[in-house]
Amino acid sequence: MSYYGSTDYLASPDFVLRMKDIRKGHLDLGWMKAGTEQVKVNAESPRRGLTFLDCNRGSYGYDALPEIPRGPRGAAPRGASYEVDAQADLSPELNRKSDVWAYKVASFYEEAMSRQWDATTYIPWADLEKYERPQEVEIAFAQLCTFFTEVEMIATDLPAKWMWRMNNQFHEVKHFIASQAIDEARHAEVFRKRVLAGGVGMMQALPQAEHSLKAILDGDSYSEASAFMHLLAEGNVLTMFRFSEYISPTPVDKRIFQLVMQDEARHVSYGMQHLKWIIDHAPERKEQLHLALDEAETFSISQFDSALFEAMIVLAGKGTKPAQIKRGIEIVGTLQVKQIDEYFGRLRRAGFEERIERSKFRPLLAMIGLGKQDAVLPS
Ligand SMILES: [Fe+2]
Ligand SMILES: [Fe+2]
Repeated sequence: MSYYGSTDYLASPDFVLRMKDIRKGHLDLGWMKAGTEQVKVNAESPRRGLTFLDCNRGSYGYDALPEIPRGPRGAAPRGASYEVDAQADLSPELNRKSDVWAYKVASFYEEAMSRQWDATTYIPWADLEKYERPQEVEIAFAQLCTFFTEVEMIATDLPAKWMWRMNNQFHEVKHFIASQAIDEARHAEVFRKRVLAGGVGMMQALPQAEHSLKAILDGDSYSEASAFMHLLAEGNVLTMFRFSEYISPTPVDKRIFQLVMQDEARHVSYGMQHLKWIIDHAPERKEQLHLALDEAETFSISQFDSALFEAMIVLAGKGTKPAQIKRGIEIVGTLQVKQIDEYFGRLRRAGFEERIERSKFRPLLAMIGLGKQDAVLPS
């Protein structure tokens, strides 16, 4: 126990007297006059229900939140009355709105809550047996799912690491990343279950992936970690999920990817809208983000040479015969160009287009002879 209260209440005569007084019916009732704003919110759409968007009113709303909301740094809910000197100081580290905020964050949270699913019953696990899968394809798929399981575990840790460091005034963001943590836990669960249900078991844990994941967890600020994870890493994973749906060995696997994709798209959108908020409200942080992404891109590039890359080639080509491998390389090459192209598209939409010129992915594509035929990269 590292935090001790200043009073031992059992040894406080005043406290004991007051307790006895209350029990005799001498209530203070001062709390009934909190002096807070009175609002009555209604669901704009009764079908949809009462959302945080409907609650965005006056002192309870997020639009009125300034860049630096001065006030208690404890757990006082936004809009409650408080005695600033008496509240506990929880020492949150993220006290500026631009540290955490994103356009549409309340909508992202509402969407997360309304689209929850579970890995136990939403996947027709029993159907897996119906589909014939070549052993090498099943092994490659198990390798892919092993990678996803690793990734999803860190994607669960990352929001959890930063959540309690955020000032409670930004509760919509905290709620959203809490929903992300449960989404990611479910993703780790579904990929683990798939590996075991396929009968092959877990394959290799990949050092390249793990160093990259460690770099995400060790981000110096939440925004740097978010740029790396939400925008770059989860963006890459989202493209991989779409690709994986396309090369899925069975309809059961397609179902898995359809479900994880809807969550992943939301996480990536939050990251893009957080970056956009920073660019619009704290552009002085651009260089810090550039430096973080310089490193993040290096870590991402390291994964282009790994068991994961080979597993995807085997899956895309549907086997290990030379013609199948040749075909697999072509398809995976397209995926890699697409990953980078979609990342550049997100940077553009977030108003951070200047990053594209500096990105390490441009020389990478040139080095491995990719991208020339895909006139999708900016000139
Ligand atoms: Fe995920
Ligand atoms: Fe995610």
